[in-house]
Amino acid sequence: LRLPSFSLVPKDDNSLLLINSGMAPMKKYFTGEITPPKKRVTTCQKCIRTPDIERVGITARHGTFFEMLGNFSFGDYFKHEATAWAWEFFTKVLEIPEEKLYVSVYEKDDEAYKIWTEEIGVDPSHMVHLGKEDNFWEHGSGPCGPCSEIYYDRGEKYGCGKPECEVGCDCDRYMEIWNNVFTQFDGDGKGNYEELETKNIDTGMGLERLASVVQDVDSIFDVDTIFALRSKVCELANVEYKKDENKDISIRLITDHIRSATFMISDGIMPSNEGRGYVLRRLIRRAARHGRLLGIEGKFLAKLCETVIEGSKDGYPELEEKKDFILKVLTQEEEKFNKTIDQGLAILEDMEKDMQAKGETV
Ligand code: SER
Repeated sequence: LRLPSFSLVPKDDNSLLLINSGMAPMKKYFTGEITPPKKRVTTCQKCIRTPDIERVGITARHGTFFEMLGNFSFGDYFKHEATAWAWEFFTKVLEIPEEKLYVSVYEKDDEAYKIWTEEIGVDPSHMVHLGKEDNFWEHGSGPCGPCSEIYYDRGEKYGCGKPECEVGCDCDRYMEIWNNVFTQFDGDGKGNYEELETKNIDTGMGLERLASVVQDVDSIFDVDTIFALRSKVCELANVEYKKDENKDISIRLITDHIRSATFMISDGIMPSNEGRGYVLRRLIRRAARHGRLLGIEGKFLAKLCETVIEGSKDGYPELEEKKDFILKVLTQEEEKFNKTIDQGLAILEDMEKDMQAKGETV
């Protein structure tokens, strides 16, 4: 059953501020608290993740907003099927050469290792064991379990060049594109796990990352859909991409943050000083500030927002339905921030003049 994306605002789940994965809105289907409409479900879920916010723009792969493709089994197919289908999808449907793919398994999951090497036939030199931090999926409380990730080798030119560079390295060479979670526990968020009654599957594949692989482009900011938005940023700032690394960071950051902000407002989140409202405020302010760094004068976020809506409204009709509202909220917040910045800069300028008159330099 193909379901539409759920809202970014979690429902009856205090352990999460924002929906950060395809499985998050379906936790109760996994635990059996609510009966799912079908045992096999698939979605393309809008997601926001902000723990890596400081890295957005700096790397090719970080973004706060992304769409996660997922297929889910609630007590239906499990490890053997999910593993085989993942491999079939990459090697037969997308026709990615096997030598470009690497697989990680949770260090204690011998069963998954055996399935990959003995049933699927993945060469052991393309298998890695990773610890709980990388290969055990849990976020907040609720359904969780060991996972197995598929990485794409983007080649040496994206690598850090260190001799120890391999899957799991922090550089841009090995990019995780699919995560298969074997959701078999219910965690309380404090490290205690109970076996779930049914064994489940939760898979997650970043649409933008996958697109960057199949379109063979440098980063998520170069895939066709996001490229249109990035170009709009360049047009408004009258700058060219790939001419100045500092400017590129700002261009990528604005491109990412405006997508998050647009989708958050469309789901009814308002800028404020706490909780998810503060996440939104921070994203808008960062985007506005980087616009100034690029030399954009005056308000510009609403213009970009229109490009986001244009590009995504087919998949998310709520963007078009709430367009006027989204533009209004964004513009008001940007105006407020601009006023604060202008006042602050005026105060700073006065202080500098004062100091200069006194001959002070510190
Ligand atoms: N929950 C897992 C993830 O987000 C798989 O969907 O990576």
